[in-house]
Amino acid sequence: MNKQEKIVLPKGCLIIFEGIDGTGKSTQLRLLAECFAGFGLPVVTTREPTEGKYGQQIRALYQNRHDVTMEEELELFIKDRREHVDRLIKPALEQKKIVLCDRYYLSTIAYQGALGADLGAVERMNDFAPTPELALVFQLEPAIAIKRITEKRGDLLNDFEQLCSLNKVSVIFDNMDFPFIQRIDSNQPADRVHADVIKTVNSTLPYIGKCLC
Ligand code: TMP
Repeated sequence: MNKQEKIVLPKGCLIIFEGIDGTGKSTQLRLLAECFAGFGLPVVTTREPTEGKYGQQIRALYQNRHDVTMEEELELFIKDRREHVDRLIKPALEQKKIVLCDRYYLSTIAYQGALGADLGAVERMNDFAPTPELALVFQLEPAIAIKRITEKRGDLLNDFEQLCSLNKVSVIFDNMDFPFIQRIDSNQPADRVHADVIKTVNSTLPYIGKCLC
């Protein structure tokens, strides 16, 4: 098939990219999106927090998370996700597109859970959100992740990225056992991580994997 030609998939597919800050998941999302697009697959990329009104309020918290309570912070992430699901994710899935989403409700469970929110309650608050077909959870030692963030950005860590909170977040990610989770070792060069991502897509989503040749 001509690779410029758009492949029509039997259904939409939501793939989420998760893990602590500094694992390189956003780079991996871009690489996978380029790969899919190169093979003519219909792909949409997006991220949370979004650029919408709630997402902007969340970004304002990065420098001073103590301005709000944990409950208020959690509520903002849920409102942002509701808007995201209604405006972008559901319509794209209905159009049989592949949606690659940088962070989704596993981040809420891990990050707001690390602040003390009940993990099961956070999961239930996300019942409205379509279940992903695949969650790629990128794994890296928090201390290495923090070194990467400071070296790459050359600036201070924001309130979400402090080592002691990232340690807690990391433990919650490590203990999650949703059937759609596949773990990826981020402690290797980006091209090797990308190769692992492709291998995982091939083995878990064969109807997409078969289009990648
Ligand atoms: P990022 O845009 O660099 O991934 O940063 C988003 C930050 O927001 C990251 O530190 C994780 C945090 N976050 C939560 O605490 N809860 C959530 O539900 C989401 C989506 C992100």
